[in-house]
Amino acid sequence: MFLEHKKNGGIFNNALDLKFKNIANTHVIKLGDEILALWEAAGPHAVDPDSLDTIGLTTLKGVLKPNEAFSAHPKKDLNSNASSELLVTFGVQTGPKSTIRLMEFNNAGTNSGELIFDRKDTFNGFAFLHDFAITTNWAIFLQNAIDFNPLPFVMGQRGAAQCLKSNPNKKAKFFIIPRESGLFRGQPPLTIDAPEGFVFHHVNAFEKDSKIVLDSIFYDDFPSVGPDENFRDIDFDKYPEGKLKRSIIDLKTKTCELETFSEQCCEFAVVNPKNLGLKATFSWMASTSQKLGNAPLQAIKKINLTSKEEISWSAGPSGFVSEPIMVPSENSSKEDEGFLFILLWNGERRGSDLVILDAKDLKELAVYELPISIPHGLHGSWVN
Ligand SMILES: [Fe+2]
Repeated sequence: MFLEHKKNGGIFNNALDLKFKNIANTHVIKLGDEILALWEAAGPHAVDPDSLDTIGLTTLKGVLKPNEAFSAHPKKDLNSNASSELLVTFGVQTGPKSTIRLMEFNNAGTNSGELIFDRKDTFNGFAFLHDFAITTNWAIFLQNAIDFNPLPFVMGQRGAAQCLKSNPNKKAKFFIIPRESGLFRGQPPLTIDAPEGFVFHHVNAFEKDSKIVLDSIFYDDFPSVGPDENFRDIDFDKYPEGKLKRSIIDLKTKTCELETFSEQCCEFAVVNPKNLGLKATFSWMASTSQKLGNAPLQAIKKINLTSKEEISWSAGPSGFVSEPIMVPSENSSKEDEGFLFILLWNGERRGSDLVILDAKDLKELAVYELPISIPHGLHGSWVN
């Protein structure tokens, strides 16, 4: 996510060097005819789709200023008011005030890659926005109740993420911005108090009457791992676990109710991409094998968001999962008709496996032992 590096040579060599190393490691997507490797605090890198060679930083044909922040969580929207598929994303300029640039690109046909909707909104305070959610008419951001201590960052001793700290005296806020492709274009954004807790990732959102229903992975607190901690010695019991929760945000009364789906620790939850922005019945996610408490993510879980019924597939004891990518079957008519692609760290053979599960019953369909070891990572996407 928000990771950087520091140079060798101690404090004097790092002080006031505020140039991030753009590690482009968070997500990879296709936009227009370009494959983009993304990192949220700077510009996207173009990658050759055939050779995977790095082409370099791109401004997306002049849409972005050189190295302008471009989120690593774009949403492919098949359900907008526009006539074609859109790719909706954002960039944040942060400081004492934070400006969110919301961009909507054509993502199909001859004009694929063209920016068609663009707006900027400024909010008070420092904003750490890793992900967002969309409905047909709204873009929803959750500003966590955290502070940013710039001093160790300015002195080059800490990366930006290591300077974040939760602030119990602050209130988390939803920033709800009307989409320019939607019915409320041109209207000002809404700011509504959000539930307590910390969120990196949202699952999906949809509109219901004058409410927005938003599913997210909530932690009780910011799960920060210090720069000097040895990852092999991590005591999982000391860190808050992620839980799937639903915020029901009333746009009229400007209030929010929170409901917990499950106490089981999870992350990286998705819905069928055809349902993004609409009500979805199913969600798939990485979870712990155990029902309670924090632990590494070693299972894939499917939950019915209406009945709360769930089934799971375990990669334990020596397999460690990443985000499941849901790929609907061609011409599928049922929401859970399709495949889950999972990159798995196989601890037994110390290598990466690509595992494909049936999205309906989580039956194992194929395991490909990859010839290279892929660092355990964050996000990926499917392109037909
Ligand atoms: Fe992410």
